[in-house]
Amino acid sequence: MAELDLIIEGGTVANAADTTQADVGIKDGRIAVLGTGLGSAARVIDASGMLVLPGGVDAHCHIEQLSSFGLMTSDDFYSGSVSAAFGGTTSFVPFAAQHKGQSLREVVREAHDRAGPKSVIDYAFHLIVSDPTEQVMGQELPALIMDGYMSFKVYMTYDMLKIDDGQMLDILALAREHGAMTMVHAENNDVINWLSGRLLAGGYDAPKYHAVSHNAVAESEASRRAIELARLVDAELLIVHVSTPEAMRAIRDARNQGLKIYGETCPQYLFLTADDMDKDGMEGAKFCCSPPPRDKDAQEAIWLGLKNGAFQVFSSDHAPYRFDASGKLSAGPNPTFKKIANGVPGLEVRMPLLFSEGVLNGKLGLNEFVALTSTNAAKLYGLYPRKGTIAVGADADIAIWDPNWKRTISQSMLHDNMDYTPYEGREITGWPRLVLSRGRVLVEDETLKAERGSGLFLEREPAPLIDKTAAPATPLDPDANFGAKLL
Ligand code: URP
Ligand code: ZN
Ligand code: ZN
Repeated sequence: MAELDLIIEGGTVANAADTTQADVGIKDGRIAVLGTGLGSAARVIDASGMLVLPGGVDAHCHIEQLSSFGLMTSDDFYSGSVSAAFGGTTSFVPFAAQHKGQSLREVVREAHDRAGPKSVIDYAFHLIVSDPTEQVMGQELPALIMDGYMSFKVYMTYDMLKIDDGQMLDILALAREHGAMTMVHAENNDVINWLSGRLLAGGYDAPKYHAVSHNAVAESEASRRAIELARLVDAELLIVHVSTPEAMRAIRDARNQGLKIYGETCPQYLFLTADDMDKDGMEGAKFCCSPPPRDKDAQEAIWLGLKNGAFQVFSSDHAPYRFDASGKLSAGPNPTFKKIANGVPGLEVRMPLLFSEGVLNGKLGLNEFVALTSTNAAKLYGLYPRKGTIAVGADADIAIWDPNWKRTISQSMLHDNMDYTPYEGREITGWPRLVLSRGRVLVEDETLKAERGSGLFLEREPAPLIDKTAAPATPLDPDANFGAKLL
């Protein structure tokens, strides 16, 4: 074999399935060999005492995206991708979001224009479908799926985004036919609006009432309804940002019945509670997101769901709005809870939070951590085995973790374009020391090494339903169908 470009020597390699002592040899951006005594290379990295993990895949983040209120997120594709890289995430899948009246083709073009010159990590796009017109359903969406935009999110809430049940059935059936994955924001819009109306009429308008209006019943009802709609047309469905034990149980029940239902949860449902919104003045606005963080019991249940397989994916739902007039306070210095931009940041701390509290405190195994933060998202969204695994032939996207590195989270150490973090002051053990993407160094010595715009758009393929237990036909063939879903 020609000399390797890079060897990572002496580390502990952990994938979703197993953990081994192995050196990793990298050539031309891909993993060329795993083993010991790999010979020489242009560079050898000593990883003794370190964990060598697949780079994270964050499959839910809002980057350089307009909200339904018309607010731009604070992170563009440069600051968002840099922040992701420092937290060990080497691929992400933000949204190309359609607002009513827009052509899907146009929003995809815009998303490429935004990401291409800026992203330092590799990326793909989920679509957001909010206006399923005849043109969209008959032409644009099937054509985009065939072009590889094989995952999209729909909303059951937010007046400007939500679709009705009939539209949802149309979309699920179309996804079933063309091999796409539907993701759903499941909250009952009428329940939220009814509760909000009564709260505001009574003068209860502080940030903490955001959590009251987005009652757990709104989430569990919509989750069960979405699952039943998917059952009707035998479609795959992934319920995003699950916050309640009831919605989680709905997913688990459905999976136990053999339905192709998947679940995602996020850091805010493990580390924050509704009490965080109950602070002086507008401070609580920093924690307003939808669904909202719940209580300690819900946190515990969600941890269990990560452990017992109710959830397949752990994403950030990074939706960054600064605590100023450009973001959280865009409707004035004292907006009612209804007018506070929804969303919290979390791209950079997603993996360290889960590693520290989950792996080091015994709530999750190391392999489960890898599955939840990287491998499963790659499988579900058509990026596997190119991404999400340390295997011969895969892209050399690797985070070398120091499991003993203790740091206290503060906004000043993060690389996003935010002015606060909801996790300020948390003590975290375990961070990536060195992060590679396709064999090139992204982050080393707490310094960014990658060029602006050096991330690649990841081509995907639609993935018709297949036997989820089967191995990919030719996993090492670069031309293989990376869309195969194998959970
Ligand atoms: O509050 C949140 N999660 N905002 C981001 C948009 C969404 O629904 O994911
Ligand atoms: Zn959502
Ligand atoms: Zn989101």
